[in-house]
Amino acid sequence: MTDQLTKSQELIARRKAAVPNGVGMFNHATAVRASGATIIDEDGHELIDFAGGIGVVNAGHCPPPVVKAIQEQAAKFLHVSFNVASYEPYIALCERLNALLPHGGPTKTLLVSTGAEAVENAIKIARQATKRQGVLCFTDAFHGRTLMAMTLTSKVAYKPDCGPYAPEVYRTRFPNFYRHGAGRSEAQFVKAELDALEVLGHNTIDPGQLACVIIELVQGEGGFNVAPKGYVQGLRKWCDQHGILLIFDEIQSGFGRTGAWSSFEHFGVTPDLSTWAKSLGSGLPIAAVMGKASIMDSAAPSSIGGTYIGSPVSCAAALATIDYMVEIDINAKGRHVGAAIRKRFEKMKAKHACIGDVRGLGAMMAMEFVVDRDPLRPDADTCTELMNACAKRDLIVITAGTEKNVIRVLCPLVISDELLNKGLDIIEEELEKICA
Ligand SMILES: Cc1ncc(COP(=O)(O)O)c(C=O)c1O
Repeated sequence: MTDQLTKSQELIARRKAAVPNGVGMFNHATAVRASGATIIDEDGHELIDFAGGIGVVNAGHCPPPVVKAIQEQAAKFLHVSFNVASYEPYIALCERLNALLPHGGPTKTLLVSTGAEAVENAIKIARQATKRQGVLCFTDAFHGRTLMAMTLTSKVAYKPDCGPYAPEVYRTRFPNFYRHGAGRSEAQFVKAELDALEVLGHNTIDPGQLACVIIELVQGEGGFNVAPKGYVQGLRKWCDQHGILLIFDEIQSGFGRTGAWSSFEHFGVTPDLSTWAKSLGSGLPIAAVMGKASIMDSAAPSSIGGTYIGSPVSCAAALATIDYMVEIDINAKGRHVGAAIRKRFEKMKAKHACIGDVRGLGAMMAMEFVVDRDPLRPDADTCTELMNACAKRDLIVITAGTEKNVIRVLCPLVISDELLNKGLDIIEEELEKICA
């Protein structure tokens, strides 16, 4: 007698037959409905969602005002192309973002559809503004999967045999204090890393040929590594000194995730350009390149854009999402959720030597698994085992890190304390079993 497949298993079998293997799959969860911080799967199970569609639903699954705005816009028109006929929701969203996230003076915004597209366009704008070609990025960075974005992405496993990559891209070490601190104080470490930038200017690329530096202040896929504040401030000075534009990639860190609209608010540094996506649209594809108006205006007509830039339905979703985030004070929720996770993760770290680091900013919280608390000995196996054990108990948790040894939490920020603690209890109990 053969075992009957569950509906979820049936769907995964169909996926395997119809969808290429190259499309990533963290686990075998399925979805038929979602609301708040839970997903209902094909078999009617309620899953606690600690992944939030990879940081897309900070305001929760299907916030009612967002669903309503989508329905209303869909009934009016779906598409005309912003290049052909200007429509109000696009302009209103740009105005809203410019007011919410000013870049140190008059600010302008280009809307596109995905994070990678925002990154591609930010680089094009920086190159046109500076008339330079060089781009500096960081180890463990993730900026997407299109050609320029993939070139900027550090993790080799994300791009096997995908070259040749885009030229004129240079990479330097991300200031990962946990991994490379080597017993120094943060101030000593920051000084050494900033000194390394000076050296790079002599042995790798003339800073006068760099159009821009692109950095995630809290690396997302790279494992929620937070750049030291002193480093970010020093980087800003170095860029100013050499006429290099500074781009912050806020695609994963924006819209309440760190307890603020932007992660850059925590650093006292303003970028020249920035990229946004994910939680801006509560799940509809919408992304933005923002920047100082003079820089944004240096792109030649028709050199940036595309047929689907800023779909009217996505714009309506984004406007309603921002209104809703203001109404529920998403940033306070980010701080609250982050503090609760940090407390529980610290408790787990005190108990288990396999947890080398607990870190993050606001609710962008993670723990890194290593062998015997050694930052240079990543332990991906324990991390994967934990993720799979949680999945068996209907908790969706995803990993991160170039070495796949980080558990990160990107739960909707509207999650109730009860559900959050239920999820954290599952992590704690499963960790207990794995480490026993
Ligand atoms: C920091 C960052 N930049 C860019 C991207 C690419 O965004 P998308 O997947 O929408 O192309 C991501 C996606 O995870 C991201 O986290």
